[in-house]
Amino acid sequence: TSQQRTTRHVAADEAGIAEAARLLVAGGLVALPTETVYGLACDATDPRAVASLYAAKGRPSFNPLIAHVPDIAAARRVGQLTHAAERLAARFWPGPLTLVVPAHLDATSELARAGLTSVAIRVPAHPVALAVLRAAGRPIAAPSANRSGHVSPTSAAHVLADLQGRIDLVLDGGVSRVGVESTILDCTGEVPVMLRPGGLARETIEAALGAPLAAREVHAQTEDDEAPLAPGMLASHYAPNARVRLDALELHPGEALLTFAGAHPPGSESAVAVADLSPAGDLTEAAANLFALLRALDASGAAGIAVVPLPGHGLGEAIADRLRRASAPR
Ligand code: TXA
Ligand code: MG
Repeated sequence: TSQQRTTRHVAADEAGIAEAARLLVAGGLVALPTETVYGLACDATDPRAVASLYAAKGRPSFNPLIAHVPDIAAARRVGQLTHAAERLAARFWPGPLTLVVPAHLDATSELARAGLTSVAIRVPAHPVALAVLRAAGRPIAAPSANRSGHVSPTSAAHVLADLQGRIDLVLDGGVSRVGVESTILDCTGEVPVMLRPGGLARETIEAALGAPLAAREVHAQTEDDEAPLAPGMLASHYAPNARVRLDALELHPGEALLTFAGAHPPGSESAVAVADLSPAGDLTEAAANLFALLRALDASGAAGIAVVPLPGHGLGEAIADRLRRASAPR
């Protein structure tokens, strides 16, 4: 069970950043903005802090955390950057990309890695996150700052809705620019494998590598839950309360509509609520809006959320992945 805490909500100015770093070094729990989503940060080298983070999120401790660092040099101290990882890091960090590499076992707590000998590392592209990481001077574990199983937060208000009273501080840096979590690549083998589509599009990565990413091995029965390669990718990980129905060609009574590029399928007139991911039909904008609009439609009290068919290229792959999880039976 999680300890009761007084959660302070402060601006991400110089004083706020210093306070966040001080709390992290002291073993506290701090929500901070990144360009993808807000992260719930703690000292990745401190097993007590990591244990309290798992408790605050209600997250199973067999689901490893990403170690966040301010630059490539710090990343090399946390894991052994393979040839592919070095290339990708040079090209895309800071940015919405997480690289899984062989861990330097003493550099992060075993609990943060959930006992694995690999470690996931990311250098976020957000000035506030980078300032906190530099000031803390150690790898910082930061899963998305939501209760386990809930939609990821893209604003300080979203964080407070989930974690008020369970964490020490929310550093308010405004709305997250990218809006979906980082793309995760397993770089422990010869050819990088995409474990989770995210804020960096597959096409962009493949163009930089000059080769396709290896297909992810799909284990029988577990495309995305019990024992996936990114162990945290539980099927119903992004669930709102309302039932989510994908590829809707018409609306059912009592449903809210999540649409794209102004599409209005039959039955939309009587929708409980309507939100458009991107009236202009831009997938980058749609990703940025996804979690906030899911929360808003959920708050409308609709029994279900119908989602129109969406393009699958670019950030459409990450959007489809998150919506598929949101619609998974639970
Ligand atoms: O954009 C993001 O990545 C955000 C921001 C806050 O940085 N963080 C985030 O963390 O999404 P989280 O904990 O919600 O997702 C991390 C994912 C999980 O699915 C976990 O299983 C996977 O990374 N992961 C961590 N370490 C791993 C490892 N060694 N091997 C494979 N997957 C790993
Ligand atoms: Mg998460």
